Formats: sequence, C-alpha cells, structure tokens
Amino acid sequence: MTSLSRWKLFIFLLIEAIGHVSSQGHRSVTRAFNPSLRPGDVITIQGTGSTRSVGLIRLHSEKGTCDSNPRLRSDLGQAPLSCNPLVLKLLTRKHKILFLKKDVESENKDVLIKTKLTSGLMRRMPYTITITVTYTGYDVQFNNDVPIEFVNRNRVGDVNMIRATSGNYDNIMLKRGANIPLNEPDCGQRGANIFRSKWARITNGQNADPGAYPWQVALRRKHVYPWAPYAHMCGGSLVSSCWVVTAAHCVLYVGRHKKNFMIRVGDLHNGDNSMYIMDEDQQTFDIEHVIVHPDFKDRPVPKNDIALIKLVEKHGRCARYGEYVNSVCLPEPGQDVFATNTECHITGWGAKNWTDRPRDYPHVLQYGKIRLHDFNTCKELYGRDPISNISQISEGMICAGAPGIDTCQGDSGGPLVCERGGPTFGEDNPFVLWGITSWGHGCADSVKPGVYADVTKYIDWIQKVRSKIF
Ligand code: ARG
Repeated sequence: MTSLSRWKLFIFLLIEAIGHVSSQGHRSVTRAFNPSLRPGDVITIQGTGSTRSVGLIRLHSEKGTCDSNPRLRSDLGQAPLSCNPLVLKLLTRKHKILFLKKDVESENKDVLIKTKLTSGLMRRMPYTITITVTYTGYDVQFNNDVPIEFVNRNRVGDVNMIRATSGNYDNIMLKRGANIPLNEPDCGQRGANIFRSKWARITNGQNADPGAYPWQVALRRKHVYPWAPYAHMCGGSLVSSCWVVTAAHCVLYVGRHKKNFMIRVGDLHNGDNSMYIMDEDQQTFDIEHVIVHPDFKDRPVPKNDIALIKLVEKHGRCARYGEYVNSVCLPEPGQDVFATNTECHITGWGAKNWTDRPRDYPHVLQYGKIRLHDFNTCKELYGRDPISNISQISEGMICAGAPGIDTCQGDSGGPLVCERGGPTFGEDNPFVLWGITSWGHGCADSVKPGVYADVTKYIDWIQKVRSKIF
C-alpha cells in the first residue's frame, strides 16, 4: 500500500469515527410501509433518553391522501396537501412528556396535549413508544403508560412512512395486524334511510328494505353452466371492508377454485337485471383467501361450520361503505349476550319452500324474525345420529326458529343477527352477528328449528386468522 492511500484510509476512518461520535444522542430513523398502515398494525419505536431533550416522530402520508377534496384542489390549481396525521413531540422535562397532535389538513390546527406520565423520558434510559392503528386514529403508549388516543373520525390518512428525528432512536418496528380491533366503530348500523316499514321470504319471510341488512353478501359463481345455471350459492356477512364470514360447507369447493367465484356486496335484488340497481350499491369482489375452520366436520351434520373469506382489494380497500353497505358487529366477548327467546333476524336469497328449485329462489333479499331456542331443549329435539349415536346438536351450534319461519337451502352462510339492547322498533341499535346459517331438518319444520353456527365460540379463531393475513 502506498503511503498516500494509507493516509486516505486513515482520514476515511477518522471521518467515520467522528461521524459516529456526533451521531450519538442524535439518531434518526425512517421506515417506509408498503402497503400503507392499516387498523391493527402496531409500530414500536425504541430509543434512549438523551441530553438533547427533544424528539419528534412523524407519520407521513403521501401527498394528496389526506385531502378531503383533492379534485377541487387540483381544479383550483393548488398542489395536493401533504400531511402528517400524527406528530408526536417528546420533551424531557423531568417526568413530563408533551405529545403534539397535528391535525390532518391544516398546519394551524395543531393540538398540543400535555400528558403527565408516571414514567419519564430520562437520560440514558431506554424507552419504548407503541403506536397502535385503530379504525378512528392512533393509540399511543409510552413505556407502560397510556397517555392518549388520537381520534380522527374522518380518516387516518394513508400513512406510508414514519420518521423519528432529532431524538435518539434505535429502532422502528412494525407488526402488521398485531392488534386488530374486533369491530369497526359504526358496525351493525343499518342504512339511515331504510323505510322501517313493517312489510318488510326465506321460508315465510318478507322483502327486506334497501339498506336494512347492509352486511349481507352473496357468494356467487362467475359463470353459469347448463348443469349449474344458478349463480347464487350462499350468503355471508361483511365483518370489515375486506372480510366475509360464511359457512364452511359453502366454500369447500370454492377454496380450490377461487377464480370461479365472487362475492357481491350491497345487493338487494339478487339478479343481473339493471332495472333494480337503483335500490342498491352492488359491488363485486374476487376472492383472495378462503379459510375453513380447522375442526369443520361435514358429517353426520355440519360442525364448526364457519369460514372466512378475504376479498381482493381494489386500491387498498375492498367494500366501500354507504347506505347499502356496512359491516355487522361481531359479538364482543363478555359483553354481547342474547338470551333464549330473544327475537333476532335471518336474511337470505334462499328457497322459500323446502321443495323449491334454485330457479324459484326469490329475487329480493328476504328477512324473517325468529327466536333463539334453548340449547338443551334443541339437543333433545334433534336427538342422536342413528349411525354414530352421537348427539346431532353440539357445542358451537345454536338453534333458532319461529312457527313457519326459517332459513332454507341457499341461505347458508348468511347471518342470524340480534339487536344490541333488544328489539326496539325504530331505534339505531347496532346488529350483532350471533349465528351463521348452517343446517336444519327440512325447512320451517314444525318441531325442529334451524341450526346456526354459534359465532361467540369462534371469535378467537376469527381474530387469529385476521391477524395473520392482511
Ligand atoms: N344447508 C342449507 C344451505 O346450504 C341451509 C339450511 C338451513 N335449514 C334450516 N332448516 N334452517 O343453504
């Protein structure tokens, strides 16, 4: 090595060393997210308290994604707004931290929130900040304190980058879907303009009002063949923009042939006649995943008859909500309990009579009101399977019915929903998905009620699946 290059190396190493020293106590970290953040994501930022007492953490979203009206801005010749849906400012003042929330669209609408923490940001002490993305905003935690929830009802912005500057940050980690909220804030709400008429088939059901059951979806074949001329297969329920809950027995074939099936949401008239589409907000989606409950058994009767379907996204989301489209609430463990005899609703495009052929299935979504039956009584009514001698009704099933009213062939996978707070006509109580149409002896049998998968038994499984696939 020549002496010149030796010098060069020395100087290079020196610069490196100086750079390293000066960056101590002043390290910035940037992480980009692709796809953007979504509810359930948890970001963990680790740092060490430094002599510089200020730290700044910014969630960035791409220019234009926060604008409430980007079209108008471009029409006016204005540049799209860039935005930081969340800005956290950390100041070490003994045991105090200041969190600063910057409002989405305007720099002037900054909100300064002073939060006293029991644990402070102290020099040389490592700390952890976790930001959980919810449906309405962000939950921020410093060490084990919960200082504040940043609620931004309108939108969280399409956050695709986080930058932690001027502090002493070691790491930013993202756990996708680590903490998916069970329900969306407006789940279970019917369309605001439903007529609420009482005239509202199912077996002996009635026509549903547009928007009365906005979570109802249809699982349909994309093509019809002479040997299968009917596109409609099963019902299902929207539990979030991209997730549908249905019956496992509906999707056994679908999973292996996803391309041949689709999910239609916002549908009232289950046909392809354009004459009816003003009463609906029909949206169709391809199927990305079909997940059948691992303990599903087909025989002698369907057991653990539940499956999840993930829709294929279009521009970062699936179902668009509105008057005719919304998610249903899943039962909140320990909170939602519907007792025997509670009046609940069933919906679907299935047969009105046990003997109907698919071509006779109703055109308009049907609903009926039925009552929840006592588990043990139902178990006795159904008795034992003659071959295996095991009880036909078992854990994970609930029975429900009313004289002459029942779900039937083609309704499977669809919802049995109950109103939180009880059936009160005209109130805005959210609806909870209590059962999934599964099986029964005939339809509207005078002795044996319809059998539904008991959703409360599958909440943990649903959350586990949703946290692994996004
Ligand atoms: N298994 C039927 C289907 O695939 C649903 C039957 C519901 N039967 C009843 N009596 N409730 O559509």
